[in-house]
Amino acid sequence: MTSTAIEFNAVLKTFRDGEKPAVDRVDLAIEAGTTTALIGPSGCGKTTSLKMINRLVEPTSGEILIDGRAIRDMPVLQLRRSLGYVIQHVGLFPHMTIARNIAVVPQLLGWDRKRITERVDALLDLVGLDPDEYRQRRPSQLSGGQQQRVGVARALAADPPILLMDEPFGALDPITRANLQREITDIQRKLRKTIVIVTHDMDEAVKLADRIVVMEHGRVVQTAPPADLLLRPATPFVASLLGEDRIIKLLQTTPVERLSELGAEVEAQSPTIGLEASMHHALTVFLQTGAAQLSVENAKGVSVGALRREVMFEFASSEQRNASCA
Ligand SMILES: Nc1ncnc2c1ncn2[C@@H]1O[C@H](COP(=O)(O)OP(=O)(O)OP(=O)(O)O)[C@@H](O)[C@H]1O
Ligand SMILES: [Mg+2]
Repeated sequence: MTSTAIEFNAVLKTFRDGEKPAVDRVDLAIEAGTTTALIGPSGCGKTTSLKMINRLVEPTSGEILIDGRAIRDMPVLQLRRSLGYVIQHVGLFPHMTIARNIAVVPQLLGWDRKRITERVDALLDLVGLDPDEYRQRRPSQLSGGQQQRVGVARALAADPPILLMDEPFGALDPITRANLQREITDIQRKLRKTIVIVTHDMDEAVKLADRIVVMEHGRVVQTAPPADLLLRPATPFVASLLGEDRIIKLLQTTPVERLSELGAEVEAQSPTIGLEASMHHALTVFLQTGAAQLSVENAKGVSVGALRREVMFEFASSEQRNASCA
C-alpha cells in the first residue's frame, strides 16, 4: 500500500509584491518511500519548493501537508526533525569535526554520547568513509565529494522518514558523482525513505527517481516516472531537457522483460540476457555478439523466452517518431 507523504496544494510563493511568483500554484503528491526528482533550469523554483517543505520559506498561499497534516500547524522544530535536509553547496560547519557535524541533530535531540558515537560511525560507513580515518577531521581536510557524503550522512543522522536533497552532487566530477548516486540508490534500497532530490541533471533524475517533476518558471510542466517522461515528453521544453540521447536513456529504463516474447522458441547457442536487465544492456550484447536474438533467462538462469533485435529497433524507432511529433 502506498500513502502520500508530502502534498502541495496550489502552493504559491512571491518574494516581493508585484513580482512574478518563484513558485506558481504547484500541486504535487509525493508517495511515501519513493524518490522524486525536481528538475528544471536555474531559477525555476526548485530550491524554493524544497525550502517550503521545511519552512525555511513560507508559502504566500496554498498549503503543504506531510502525512496529511498541514505543516503550517506543526511546531517548526518538530517538523524539521522529521526531515533530513542536504542544502545546496553542502554547508558543513568549518570549525567542527566531521563527527560533530554529523551529530548536530542527535545532539539537539539530547541523545547520549555513546549512542551518538555509534550513530556517527554507522553513518560514515554507510556513505563509504572510514570512521577511524575521517571522524576527527575538519571539513577543509576533505575533498568536495567527501564533504557531500558527510552532508548526506548529516541529513540521515536522526533517521528522518523524509530526506530533502538540494543538488547534493552538484559540482562533482562524473566518477565521484556516479559513486555517490550508487550509494544513494543503495541507501534507498536499505532504508526506504521518502526522498526529494533537486537536480539540474536529467541523467541523475532518470537514474535515481521513481518520479520526475519538471519545473519551468515556477510551474510544474510534467510529473511522470522516468520511462513515461522519456516516452512522452509533454512539451518541446521537456523533450529538450531529455536531450539528444533520449533513446539511450529510454533503453536504460526499459527492462528486457517488456520487449521479450515469453515462451517463444530460442535458437540454440543464442547469447543470454536476464529478464531484469535493461534494454540498454541488451543493445550492448546485440552489438558485441552480432546475434539476431537473445535467450531471455529468469533469475534462476532458466530460459523463458526470446528477445529479437528487430523488436528493439522497432521500439526505438517508434519512440523516435513520437518524439519528433511531440
Ligand atoms: N530569498 C529570496 N528573495 C527574493 N527572491 C528569491 C529568493 N530566493 C529565491 N528567489 C527567486 O526565486 C526564483 C526561484 O529561485 P530558486 O532558488 O527556487 O531557483 P532554483 O530552481 O533552485 O535555481 P538553481 O537551479 O539556480 O538553484 C528565482 O528567480 C530567485 O531569484
Ligand atoms: Mg536551487
